[in-house]
Amino acid sequence: MPKYTPEQIEEILAGESWLGFSMDRLRELETSIKEYVDDGYGLMGAEYASVFDELSDVSKNQIEYFTSKVYESDPAKHRYQVLDVGAGHGTRAVHLAAQDKVNLKAIELSDYFYARHLLELEKEGLLPFGCAMKADMCDMPFESATFDAIYCNTALHHQVYLPGKNIGIEKIMSEFSRVLLKGGKLYLLTLYGDETHFRLQRFFQSLTEESMKRLASRNSFKIDEMKQIEGYGVFGPKTRYLEVYLTKRNV
Ligand SMILES: C[S@@+](CC[C@H](N)C(=O)[O-])C[C@H]1O[C@@H](n2cnc3c(N)ncnc32)[C@H](O)[C@@H]1O
Repeated sequence: MPKYTPEQIEEILAGESWLGFSMDRLRELETSIKEYVDDGYGLMGAEYASVFDELSDVSKNQIEYFTSKVYESDPAKHRYQVLDVGAGHGTRAVHLAAQDKVNLKAIELSDYFYARHLLELEKEGLLPFGCAMKADMCDMPFESATFDAIYCNTALHHQVYLPGKNIGIEKIMSEFSRVLLKGGKLYLLTLYGDETHFRLQRFFQSLTEESMKRLASRNSFKIDEMKQIEGYGVFGPKTRYLEVYLTKRNV
């Protein structure tokens, strides 16, 4: 059972009582959000997968643009270790895995997406055997400096951003930095907004450009490109996202 109910989480965030929380309570807050998100995708994952069933040409081009940047980061390599974080029903993972120099790992929190989609895609041969792992982006089961690139499309915003506290989005960004090689690439698409927490069906956290700059500099990332874009999401077709391309600094 989650420590905090969705209503309690909402109250804690709105009233900023988390400011007085011990590290243990902050971790319980993070875990409660994870369980709530997992539960939400258990209930709505099939609908999500049917809405985003086909990968649009825009998404395909975006994945190919990202992988071209990854190849440019170290042109001498023949293969690049790429991690898809919060891979969901796996259509993006399939396109990433199909890129000619990519060795893909895909992590996913939701039981439903992991068992019913990612493992099935492995069985069908659309994802390589052993590609999918049921794992948490807040605490990743990888050695430091393992990956050339991380692709994280609309997953980061399922955790909270509580500045100065090493949980949620801050922890995830430090995990991304830890598991990336120096010079490694990170792609983020995440909900844009004035740092509001939205409960809706699951938790959503919006971020401003300023917060993204802070998160990047605290975790040894250089922002290569950052822009707001519009796409389908929690606020319908006009949902605003922050699209960010980052590079892990060499020093
Ligand atoms: C909106 S879906 C995006 C799925 C996929 N990346 C896509 O673009 O189609 C967000 C995904 O992030 C996953 N997720 C949420 N919190 C996570 C966590 N702590 N660790 C790993 N995955 C997580 C959810 O289970 C869900 O599959």
